[in-house]
Amino acid sequence: MMGLPEEFEGIIYDTASVSTMHAIAAAREALDVGVREEGMSGRADLPLLRVYASEQAHSSVDKSVITLGLGQRSLRKIPTDDQFRMNTEALTSAIEEDRRAGLLPFCVVATVGTTSTSSIDPVPTIADICARERLWLHVDTAYAGSAAIVPELRYAIEGCERADSVVTNPHKWLFTPIDISVLYCRRMDTLRRAFSLVAEYLRTSEGEAGEVRNQMDTGVQLGRRFRSLKLWMVLRYFGHEGLAARIREHCRLARLFASFIEESPDWELMAPVPFALVCFRARPGVEGETTEARASRLDALNERLLSAVNATGEAFLSHTKLHDALTLRLAIGNIRTAESHIRRTWQLLNDEMERVK
Ligand SMILES: Cc1ncc(COP(=O)(O)O)c(C=O)c1O
Repeated sequence: MMGLPEEFEGIIYDTASVSTMHAIAAAREALDVGVREEGMSGRADLPLLRVYASEQAHSSVDKSVITLGLGQRSLRKIPTDDQFRMNTEALTSAIEEDRRAGLLPFCVVATVGTTSTSSIDPVPTIADICARERLWLHVDTAYAGSAAIVPELRYAIEGCERADSVVTNPHKWLFTPIDISVLYCRRMDTLRRAFSLVAEYLRTSEGEAGEVRNQMDTGVQLGRRFRSLKLWMVLRYFGHEGLAARIREHCRLARLFASFIEESPDWELMAPVPFALVCFRARPGVEGETTEARASRLDALNERLLSAVNATGEAFLSHTKLHDALTLRLAIGNIRTAESHIRRTWQLLNDEMERVK
């Protein structure tokens, strides 16, 4: 449904955090520096290994390098442009600089649909860089991968067909109850090389061995839940077109809400709206204010507004910081969210602003 090429094999895990951790482990295995046997500590022959991700990448990338014993210093955060997308020139220079310093670059994590703003890293250019530098490309589409099932939104995952691995979470925007995350990998044998370990009591009889696809070989866990069943039910019930129609509608509602923001002088959009997430803030003016006073007044106001709206119990907003400014986030992803809810939330925001400003 996402249009990924046939060479990708899939494996279901619980969460994107775990999918990304396995992808980075496979990337490290692809280096062929004996980490599986020798580990990494106490080795004079192994330089610092380097992973790259943008400043907007999810914290699960940091947790992956912590878990894999690479250490947080192995993760180099690449700056983003004014639309929160990875700056690919900065990526190229970072790789060059690291190679000159004797480090060992091995993996880039790009994101389609970052957590704070749903920005889209330029994956085609990043794929070129990875091909040239022989680096593993993992793309985190945990949130926005689902959008690729909508034909006119497929552009968002352009370049993912050249990635080594791609993660997407049906539990985020494909209406499947938590937890279910899918890792697509075009080099599943490398992932198997990193994790396959068949103790005697796990061995399948000769006859079955060729037929059975042992999922224990592609990760840490042995026992696992039958997560695919609930996804299968969702796909059967709604069908591809039914799911696409709902995602399309969520994007329309997000654009509608964004248009209310754009038309009002008391509010401003804080990031582009490629999917169904709107980042915005209240910004009523006060005459004769310094830039600093304005920044702290607006942060405090938006914080009060967030609490006030959430306290109504009618809508639930979240927040982030963009360019150091407290930013409100309206994320539309529930199957029952309708236009009336969006209009009501806009009303609530304006009523509460009058009260708390
Ligand atoms: C882009 C992105 N990647 C990864 C994650 C982590 O997802 P999970 O909770 O499945 O580990 C999130 C969660 O918000 C996310 O937005």
